[in-house]
Amino acid sequence: MTTYRIAPSILSADFARLGEEVRNVVAAGADIIHFDVMDNHYVPNLTIGPLVCQAIRPHVDVPIDVHLMVKPVDRIIPDFAKAGANIITFHPEASEHIDRTLQLIRDHGCKAGLVFNPGTPMHYLEHVMDKIDMILIMSVNPGFGGQSFIPEALKKIAIARRMIDESGRDIMLEVDGGIKAENIAAAAAAGADTFVAGSAIFGKPDYKAVIDAMRAELAT
Ligand code: DX5
Ligand code: ZN
Repeated sequence: MTTYRIAPSILSADFARLGEEVRNVVAAGADIIHFDVMDNHYVPNLTIGPLVCQAIRPHVDVPIDVHLMVKPVDRIIPDFAKAGANIITFHPEASEHIDRTLQLIRDHGCKAGLVFNPGTPMHYLEHVMDKIDMILIMSVNPGFGGQSFIPEALKKIAIARRMIDESGRDIMLEVDGGIKAENIAAAAAAGADTFVAGSAIFGKPDYKAVIDAMRAELAT
C-alpha cells in the first residue's frame, strides 16, 4: 500500500505568526512542512531563507522539505542543512553540476531531489537516479502560490513513477502547485505519493478539515 504524505507549503501561511502556523498545520495532520525558497533571480519572487528554517525547526518534529528556487544552488545548501532541513530539492537547470549538487546535499545529511518545471525535460534524471531521494513535479510554473494546476503535469508524474519503479529505489514522488481535494486523487492515480498544498490549506480557517478531505480522496 502506498504511503501518502501531505506537505503544506508555508508560502501561504501567515508569516507574522509562522511558529503557530506550522504547529497548527502539523496538529491538523501535515506529514511534512514544504518550505519554498525564492531568490528574485531564478524566479520572480523573494521569500525566506535559512534563518526562517532555523526559527521554525523547534516548533515541529516532521521533516522540513526545502524547495530551492534559487540560482546558483550550491552555496546555500550547507546553511539549510545547519538550519534543520531534512529534504533539499533544486531545479536541475539552476545547477551547473547536478551530480555534484546532489552529492553536496547528501554529504550534509539531507535527502536530495530534483524539481521539474512544466517545461523541463525529465532526462536530467537519467544518470543520477542512485543519488535521488525525491522527484518533485511542478504542476504550475514556480514563483507564486495560488495558481491553477496544469493537467499536463499528470503525464510527467506518470513518467517519473515509471522511472522510480524501474530503479527499484525508495524515492518520494511529490507534486507541487494548485493541489486541492478536487484534484489530489488524479495526481495520486498518476503515481504521486507526496502532495504540496499551500493556498488550499492555509487559505481556509480549518486546516484539519482540508487535510482530512484530501486524505478521504486518497483513500477512495
Ligand atoms: C510555487 C511553490 C509552491 C506553492 C504552492 O512556486 O513551489 O510550493 O507554494 O502553492 P499552491 O498550493 O497555492 O499552488
Ligand atoms: Zn514548492
